[in-house]
Amino acid sequence: MKLTKFIDPLPIPPVLKPKWKSADYTYYEVKMEEVKQSLHSQIPHTPIWGYEGLYPGPTFEVETGERVFVKWMNNLPEKHLFPIDHTVHGAEKVKPDVRTVVHLHGGRTEPESDGYPDAWFTKGFEKKGPFFTKKIYEYGNLQSARALWYHDHAIGITRLNIYAGLAGFYLIRDPRERSLNLPSGKFEIPLLLQDRSFYEDGSLFYPEQSSEHPTEFTPSIISSFFGDTIVVNGKVWPFLEVEPRKYRLRLLNGANARFFHLFLNSGQPFFQIGTDSGLLERPNRVQSLLLAPAERADVIVDFSKLNGKSILMKNDARTHFPIGDPVDPGTTGTVMQFRVTKPLSSMDTSVIPPFMETIHRLPESTAHKQRFLQLSEEKDQFGRSLFLLDQKKWDDPISENPQVGTNEIWCFVNTNGDDHPIHVHLVQFQILDRLPFDVKHYKNTRRIRYTGLPVAPDSGERGWKDTVKCPPGHITRIIIPFFPFTGRYVWHCHMLEHEDYEMMRPYWILPPY
Ligand code: C2O
Ligand code: CU
Repeated sequence: MKLTKFIDPLPIPPVLKPKWKSADYTYYEVKMEEVKQSLHSQIPHTPIWGYEGLYPGPTFEVETGERVFVKWMNNLPEKHLFPIDHTVHGAEKVKPDVRTVVHLHGGRTEPESDGYPDAWFTKGFEKKGPFFTKKIYEYGNLQSARALWYHDHAIGITRLNIYAGLAGFYLIRDPRERSLNLPSGKFEIPLLLQDRSFYEDGSLFYPEQSSEHPTEFTPSIISSFFGDTIVVNGKVWPFLEVEPRKYRLRLLNGANARFFHLFLNSGQPFFQIGTDSGLLERPNRVQSLLLAPAERADVIVDFSKLNGKSILMKNDARTHFPIGDPVDPGTTGTVMQFRVTKPLSSMDTSVIPPFMETIHRLPESTAHKQRFLQLSEEKDQFGRSLFLLDQKKWDDPISENPQVGTNEIWCFVNTNGDDHPIHVHLVQFQILDRLPFDVKHYKNTRRIRYTGLPVAPDSGERGWKDTVKCPPGHITRIIIPFFPFTGRYVWHCHMLEHEDYEMMRPYWILPPY
């Protein structure tokens, strides 16, 4: 199917309206619904699953410290949009096909509201998973301004539920951010970047089987999904008309497995001002940005000298990343188009601040513990790739059990050829460094032999993070303060096909002694 690029305008998800708002708290209700939505004007409407019937879901706009309650409701049909592999843990035949549970990614959320993968529920809460927690989730928002996102997290089918459309932005605001005079209002644009494939009838295509390592049975989970079109805010290759001024783009990689290495074909730089978890200390001027699944970047782009021009946002990240096939510049190498065609509606008084906020580096000496956790690739009984964390599966006993109020260093020892984006629920962390090591030697002896000097995090990674790229052949070290809650959470690779198939582990935050 050949689709013409840049014939559909970029949709901006509407801001979600609360059902109730008082000085004490705000209450929302969100229904998940199956609807048909136009993802491109040359293909018939596509059945999708959306929060409030929208893909992407409506955007939450909340204030730091605002107490927010959300009743997430599953109003989806009984049949899934995609084939379910029942050999995957948590997705056995006895389980209902359509199960959902919502996670606020990057949120400092109590365990009962965090969307534990086994806390799923079906339509009308009729059936509930073994760890069902609460019907109404509470978010304390005790975090500075940042872009979080909410998405489905049901065990064994997260890749399918998010692929169906269950994802949206959740923006936290605070006075500090407002005082910086960043581009705002209609000059602040959230961009959810994903990839999708389609059937001729407009429905979404998700493979039943791996083409490289087919199994005797279908449907069978694949090791990573890569679509053949790029979809931004639910439109294939959209365009956005902009004024000749500065814009703030809230970039989010919401793809199942695709990395995006973004750049503008006009040679314009990105001024990165924030990461996954809030503002950087100073703007980071870069020609390109690498975003792994679930990572965010807060950037300012200045279109003021480009009046009348069309600019493409391009992508040249290989699939798999970093050692797979190059992208086709004509398809997945192109993300979207900006057209500087709107007249200037008012003077642009916004700024790229020279300084945003102080970020205190956590000294290594504050860590109570250092854990080495291997990221490895094994084979399952059917010869399929199986990615594991510390050689353990989801069902193995909990082994990571930090004490609340302490810092730990987690070292991700990647012995496999893919870069894996590791996400730890509840916490924000800092990246210490990445150390190249001898993978063969490690596999044979379990001993680490370093082969080079530590690599400092990129300048765009020197703020707080909740998802970290762990490149192959490197030990990626992060320092994590565990607070403020105790209880059961998860950590996992955010490539959704990995996460669904054992590359996810529960962990406990223990109370103080
Ligand atoms: Cu974005 Cu465990 O999730
Ligand atoms: Cu992975």
